[in-house]
Amino acid sequence: MKILVIHGPNLNLLGTREADVYGMRTLEEINNSLEELAKDLSVKLDIKQSNHEGEIVDIIQNSKQHHALVINPAAYTHTSVAIRDAIAAVEIPTVEIHLSNIYKREDFRHKSLISAVANGQISGFGPDGYLLALRAATSITNANKGNS
Ligand code: DQA
Repeated sequence: MKILVIHGPNLNLLGTREADVYGMRTLEEINNSLEELAKDLSVKLDIKQSNHEGEIVDIIQNSKQHHALVINPAAYTHTSVAIRDAIAAVEIPTVEIHLSNIYKREDFRHKSLISAVANGQISGFGPDGYLLALRAATSITNANKGNS
């Protein structure tokens, strides 16, 4: 089983960026913990980070060999019809994840354009949210396999 993980804009700055909101863990540390869990779950990961909307669209369009997508679209969550449409187009099972609880923050963060095309959303559990998202993506994929 192969799962694609996409980190959106500014997440490359984790560890230094607004640590009061996003914590001290770097993206590399988060990715290492994802790889550790993936090993336990016998899942292969492809992990990408991009600050560019069109590049994220391209990555999603090229995700055909992946069984599921874990995505933190970051600021594009609230603005990107293009990323939403790419997920809808490839029909890949998708788990949306946010480090912070977007519903506790500014009003403009309360709306996700991605949620309507995701299987579910995890928001507010910090870096551990990525591990929950990977577990969710793995069990959705296993359930899909059982049904096919
Ligand atoms: C975020 C929440 C977004 O509103 C914000 O723009 C981000 C990170 C999160 O992980 O909490 O960059 O997706």
